[in-house]
Amino acid sequence: MPGMPDALALAGRTISLCLTGGIAAYKSVYLARLLLTAGAAVQPVMTASASRFVGKVTLSGLCARPVLEDMWDSSFAGEAHVALAEQSDLVVIAPTTADMLARLAQGRADDLVAALALVAKSPVLIAPAMHPRMWAHPATQRNVATLRADGRVRLVGPVEGPVANGEVGLGRMSEPEAIFAAIVEALGARTDLAGKHVVVTAGPTVEDLDPVRFLGNRSTGKMGFAVAEAARARGARVTLIAGPTALSTPRGVDRVDVRSALEMQSAIDAALGPALERADALVMAAAVADYRPATYEPEKTKKPKAGKAGDVLSIELLRNPDLLAGVGARRSGGRPVLVGFAVETRDLVDYARRKLRDKRVDLVVGNLATHGFGGDDDEVVIVDEASAEPLRASKRQIADALLDRIAGRLA
Ligand code: CTP
Repeated sequence: MPGMPDALALAGRTISLCLTGGIAAYKSVYLARLLLTAGAAVQPVMTASASRFVGKVTLSGLCARPVLEDMWDSSFAGEAHVALAEQSDLVVIAPTTADMLARLAQGRADDLVAALALVAKSPVLIAPAMHPRMWAHPATQRNVATLRADGRVRLVGPVEGPVANGEVGLGRMSEPEAIFAAIVEALGARTDLAGKHVVVTAGPTVEDLDPVRFLGNRSTGKMGFAVAEAARARGARVTLIAGPTALSTPRGVDRVDVRSALEMQSAIDAALGPALERADALVMAAAVADYRPATYEPEKTKKPKAGKAGDVLSIELLRNPDLLAGVGARRSGGRPVLVGFAVETRDLVDYARRKLRDKRVDLVVGNLATHGFGGDDDEVVIVDEASAEPLRASKRQIADALLDRIAGRLA
């Protein structure tokens, strides 16, 4: 299809696509398709009159989500508009009728779309569509001026051209491709990693003792998966080497599943190539086990009888290789860019800087063990030789901040 975005520029983003009642609503179905193709999750929202113009089934079928239209929707744990605002990275109202413009200018909240626009934390983009005389009317122009002065919504269009009845003038909704481009811009989506190969490790490694028992750790993999998703969204080819996690693979990412540290090492070697020439960056977000059991029992081991000999059990462990330090030691020059992670309970920046030198890497993301296990938000410090940047944000935002640094080093 012409105009289809080819990159997953919006991977991992959730967009509330709100339709109000105008003929141009049929074009918003195609806008939904563009957003979905770019990897976004699209939540359709409609006013009562929008459903006179396009079928709810069309949008719910395309977006694989029910259309929301009711302020009083009881399927939300809480208020629908507030819950929707929480999950939206961007709200777009396309088409925006003259009536919706007036309601937005007044700050009304008398349906789900208007209330969502009022409570949104994210950028709100509106694409007006109406007869040219409605657009030119002083009342509409006053509303537009109010919205511009408030600075809380961004307008895309309207444009010159034929409107529904064939008359030509300023009032036609911008084409879906133009609205799509405005959405990409409003979200600050970048393609600065196009043509680059980014290797990311994520999750725990687990070291098997026997067929039913293992030594593991509490890493969920969320940080590494967020880095993989964000790098793909910025145009990189991404290899994600993952220990056992419950997370689903971000779209467009090549995933290699491993269990142990030694398996992870083989996967890293394969992804980087013998002279590290196949990757532009390695982000080691995995919590690699420092030790593995000295022996693996092929049959399930039986516990000894209780009593003196059976009350204490020692397991002999062997040191695992440090995978990141191994790559750091082999690297000459700045390729691939190397990023390590450090979880500490104290002296975060000092320890991070020590890791930076010991492992010969470019950046270390330090994380206090009190934060960050399993949550979607994190508090980290991004440390390099010269600076230590504290950051409190979602894992996706931290991933993007990290990728800004990596892209800078690759430029
Ligand atoms: N790492 C690695 N190979 C290992 C262990 C860790 O590549 N065998 C990587 C991790 O992926 C992470 C960083 O090194 O990027 C973490 O460093 P590490 O020395 O494991 O941190 P801690 O275990 O927290 O260090 P220490 O035991 O010194 O506190």
